[in-house]
Amino acid sequence: TSNTSSYKPDIASRTPPYPKLLKRLHEVRRVLGSSRRLTLAEKILYSHLDNPEEALLSNTDNGRNIRGNANLKLKPDRVAMQDASAQMALLQFMTCNLPSTAVPASIHCDHMIVGERGADVDLPESIKGNKEVFDFLESAAKKYGIEFWPPGAGIIHQTVLENYAAPGLMMLGTDSHTPNAGGLGAIAIGVGGADAVDALVDAPWELKAPKILGVRLEGQLSGWTSPKDVILALAGKLTVRGGTGFIIEYHGPGVDSLSCTGMATICNMGAEVGATTSLFPFSTRHIPYLESTHRSSIALQAQTIASSPSLNNLLRSDDGAEYDELITIDLSTLEPHINGPFTPDLSTPLSKFSKAVKENNWPESVSAGLIGSCTNSSYQDMARAEDLVKQASAAGLKPAVDFFVTPGSEQIRATLERDSTLSTFEEAGGVVLANACGPCIGQWKRTDGVSKGDSNAIFTSYNRNFRGRNDGNPDTMNFLASPEIVTAMAYAGSTTFNPLTDSIITPSGAEFRFSPPSGAELPASGFEEGNPAFLPSSAAPSPSTKVVVSPTSDRLALLEPFAPFPDHDLKGLRVLYKVTGKCTTDTISAAGPWLKYKGHLPNISANTLIGAVNAATGETNVAYDVDGSKSGIPELAQKWKDQGLEWLVVAEDNYGEGSAREHAALQPRYLGGRVILAKSFARIHETNLKKQGVVPLTFANGEDYSKIDACDEVTTVGLYDMLKNGGKGEVELLVKKHGSGEEIVIKTKHTLSEDQSGFILAGSALNLLAKAKRA
Ligand code: F3S
Repeated sequence: TSNTSSYKPDIASRTPPYPKLLKRLHEVRRVLGSSRRLTLAEKILYSHLDNPEEALLSNTDNGRNIRGNANLKLKPDRVAMQDASAQMALLQFMTCNLPSTAVPASIHCDHMIVGERGADVDLPESIKGNKEVFDFLESAAKKYGIEFWPPGAGIIHQTVLENYAAPGLMMLGTDSHTPNAGGLGAIAIGVGGADAVDALVDAPWELKAPKILGVRLEGQLSGWTSPKDVILALAGKLTVRGGTGFIIEYHGPGVDSLSCTGMATICNMGAEVGATTSLFPFSTRHIPYLESTHRSSIALQAQTIASSPSLNNLLRSDDGAEYDELITIDLSTLEPHINGPFTPDLSTPLSKFSKAVKENNWPESVSAGLIGSCTNSSYQDMARAEDLVKQASAAGLKPAVDFFVTPGSEQIRATLERDSTLSTFEEAGGVVLANACGPCIGQWKRTDGVSKGDSNAIFTSYNRNFRGRNDGNPDTMNFLASPEIVTAMAYAGSTTFNPLTDSIITPSGAEFRFSPPSGAELPASGFEEGNPAFLPSSAAPSPSTKVVVSPTSDRLALLEPFAPFPDHDLKGLRVLYKVTGKCTTDTISAAGPWLKYKGHLPNISANTLIGAVNAATGETNVAYDVDGSKSGIPELAQKWKDQGLEWLVVAEDNYGEGSAREHAALQPRYLGGRVILAKSFARIHETNLKKQGVVPLTFANGEDYSKIDACDEVTTVGLYDMLKNGGKGEVELLVKKHGSGEEIVIKTKHTLSEDQSGFILAGSALNLLAKAKRA
């Protein structure tokens, strides 16, 4: 390892464009009037507007009701992508034929790396198994001038915090925990690849102005309670949907008792309550973190801006700014929480947990403890866990169960190695995994004898705990907690253990009780940069680089632009499938083993709608052709595509709920789907459909759902004119019933804007972008 001082990152590209943002803020003030008080999130967002006047005054009662109403067209400063989602983002970007990205961007290889036997074995094997994908990402990064962080360099959100996040920055990331960067005062939003491409080509990225949920922190953290407990407790209050449509803005006197990385942990898990993003105001605790990560000049600029009077202060909310909702948390009385199983909002205070275990019949023994991940792998997290391990080792104790440690980045790993933290873990029997997602994203091959179907309880410092997420076993209960609580539970081996009040019997028969953990916020002798092979590539584009995609690959395929809309209404569409019940993005494009094909649209399309329930028969993934022959849904779609037959899907409420997974829109489009007719749509998926050129229509009368069935033939009436008129006009469907030949008319509604009508006419949003860039 070499010392940090030799690493010279490109600071200019990492500094938010402060002069420009301050000018914009001034402009926003002019438009809204000087008496208007703004929250911090509004200041940063509105300073990134492409055209503040238009966005803030239209559809907002002349600026009085912006939140929840205005359509913001934003110009983010930066884009970050992880290896799994970067594939489709880059494949889409490539169809625009541009020489380089318009804003700085980075790629992080982290999701495709297994955690099994430790970094030394797992990393080379994962690189071998995913070589063609990593080669593709690296060559595309080189060609277009994107910083490429190779496998082993670290987890996207930790690397972003160490290198790119900064107060006042606005960035998009192709991962749902992108808001982690809010810990350093950035507005960072998780999006799909097509949205990332908007930013990469300098097209405005659209967002309905979020409402602002203020969380006021009072008091001070101490003892066993850690930043993780703030968000674990908040998730319990808000539930998994409580943050939808909101930005969570933390403020109040308690903020200064939190470390920078602790604030990042809190923002990271804001994704679990559905928030658009979360953020903290500039804090004095940001300064040492920025300085120790080579960014003293950014610390200085941010400090100067933060000390200006409230109205010109980009990095703090105005005095008297109002929140749409307000929650207060007293850090002094907050106790550690444990959330789960199976949902992150089932939150139990530690003092009530053992009772909950008994009442719910949860397993009484712990089967593994896992610390680290993008949520909790800061120096402070690890130092506090190390303190507990040292206390236990001194008493002659070893963890009672498997104990895994995932460092978030090479910088953290190398620093922990230098400071002997890793050897403390290893001597105690812990296993240090690669600097990657590993068990957090299911890349965990358990070797402890727990197999599928075995009910068992693991404790992790991660952020998500859906069934099967970590080891593929739907009966593994993942209890989320701080790294400190996870470490203590791994020693106790019992889910009913409370480290604040209970003892463990040591091998010599003595009673051992942990003291509250302590640990330094930042390493006293600075961060190590670690293995130089894990540093990023340069961000200078190299146009002569060939992007490697083998035509015979089963994991990557170049994208063909979708054909433009015909210059008339759609005729002869057929209903491929009528879905009953829930139809989530998982139903439309399943994950698990299919993740492997994220960069290969034809191959991943073989999972299209395989979770959908047939409204006529109750069967899942069983479709019937016009001649009555039976097959899977994707097989029938492919057969019709081969016959040149286009189709639509009929569905019930909240079609496409769940995630921003763009494959759920790309795949139907690729297989010939032109229209989705539903009772209602999940908002993000509805936008994704429009971006990929699929028309989302809702029933004007919900009861009409019963009048249309699989294999009916459909002609659109008024659709082409509506699109030509920029979204204005009615669309009806003329339905010829399969079998009887009877004709009926179904009235529909739509939410297509002028811009979105343009996407559909061009064949996709990307086609329109590419056309604009060529012009
Ligand atoms: Fe990776 Fe898990 Fe975070 S998948 S990005 S460590 S949420």
